[in-house]
Amino acid sequence: MTSVLFVCLGNICRSPTAHGVFRTKVADAGLANLIRVDSCGTGGWHIGASPDKRSMAAAESAGYDLSDLRARRVQRDDFGQFDYILAMDRQNLADLEQLCPPEYSGHLGLFLDFGSHGDVQEVPDPYYGDGDGFQQVLSLVENASDGLLEEIRRGRPLA
Ligand code: 4NP
Repeated sequence: MTSVLFVCLGNICRSPTAHGVFRTKVADAGLANLIRVDSCGTGGWHIGASPDKRSMAAAESAGYDLSDLRARRVQRDDFGQFDYILAMDRQNLADLEQLCPPEYSGHLGLFLDFGSHGDVQEVPDPYYGDGDGFQQVLSLVENASDGLLEEIRRGRPLA
């Protein structure tokens, strides 16, 4: 079993999008019983909330259902329980590095390192922007999800 945890700030826009997209790709590949997928936020403002309606709409237009997801905050146990703990931007990664016990620091990474848009290394926070930001998040997340799934299938560890 390989486990993947997507992390953003609020766990209502970017990481639930990654969660919903990646789990669908995993299921489509017939790997749902081999790859566990989850998401969380470094902040606690939206605990228990559904994803942002704009994220749900962008995802739904491409066939991904986020409606069952609920926000939660990262917790200390997560670091030892997930093989891949993937931040959406460098600030998320820095926040995780502060919280992560040193023995698990090799589990941390930037999600877009698995993408093929070499010049774009962070998923921009769409929360305070216009609607286009949500489509951009979806497309970056779809691309990096393909790369991540390929990497896991090849059996390569993160660090
Ligand atoms: P996310 O976006 O990190 O992609 O879920 C945000 C959602 C809410 C807030 C910040 C970012 N907020 O400050 O409430």
